[in-house]
Amino acid sequence: MEILKLGGSVITYKEKPRTPNTEAITRLASEVATAGPRRLIIVHGGGSYGHPLAQEYSISTGYKSPNQMTGFSLTHQAMVELNKLIVDAFLDAGVPTVSIAPSSFITTEDRRITTVDFALISRAVEFGFVPVLYGDAVLDTALRFTILSGDQLAARLATDLGASRIIFGVDVDGVFTANPKLVKEARLIEELSLGQMKGIIKIGEALSTDVTGGMLGKIMEAAAAVQAGVEVQLVNALKPGVIHDALRGEKVACTWLRR
Ligand code: IPE
Repeated sequence: MEILKLGGSVITYKEKPRTPNTEAITRLASEVATAGPRRLIIVHGGGSYGHPLAQEYSISTGYKSPNQMTGFSLTHQAMVELNKLIVDAFLDAGVPTVSIAPSSFITTEDRRITTVDFALISRAVEFGFVPVLYGDAVLDTALRFTILSGDQLAARLATDLGASRIIFGVDVDGVFTANPKLVKEARLIEELSLGQMKGIIKIGEALSTDVTGGMLGKIMEAAAAVQAGVEVQLVNALKPGVIHDALRGEKVACTWLRR
């Protein structure tokens, strides 16, 4: 079994509120379809659907005032809307996707997923379906509610279900020596060991950078899965053909995270 996480920067235009990248969504659906049937779970991010509302109502830091209650629901509804676009596109391409809402069966405690039962998802995969989950607004036993990222969810699914690989489809080729969007000399790092990942996490924490998102957040979330023996591949899902080739096990420009 494999997990494919599609980042919000791939399936939406991050700077334009509620704007899907319809071209990318349609192309990705056909890439997954032509890669052939497989045991796969898709998780997608929020991009310009979930994030602006989550931010407006400060959902991730938990309950502070009553007006956040509707904000929680609005954030979830925005994700449902984006999820419908994704699932519809995959159905059009002939991929037997089924939508499963994370907030309907997952709670967190201080932002981390606690006990969770993925048996139904596992059963759906076994029966030939491709479940589609997403980053969501979820109930949190310590904070009342929070935002569960698709990255945390993908890593936990992979660990609990013993997936062989997580493919993170993002808007760059992988982890670089510097921000490739800003630094021309930035070089792609083709492989990071668990030890190297831990070093990067330490530096990131020391710099107290915002570790909830971005590449550092992905490396942090991936660490437990890598530790459990899952191979993690970061690839550029905005480049046509890359997700298809990655699914088929062909060589693509990427970063591998491996034990
Ligand atoms: C966030 O999910 C979901 C919400 C804001 C509700 P992710 O954190 O996985 O989204 P992206 O991939 O960074 O956009």
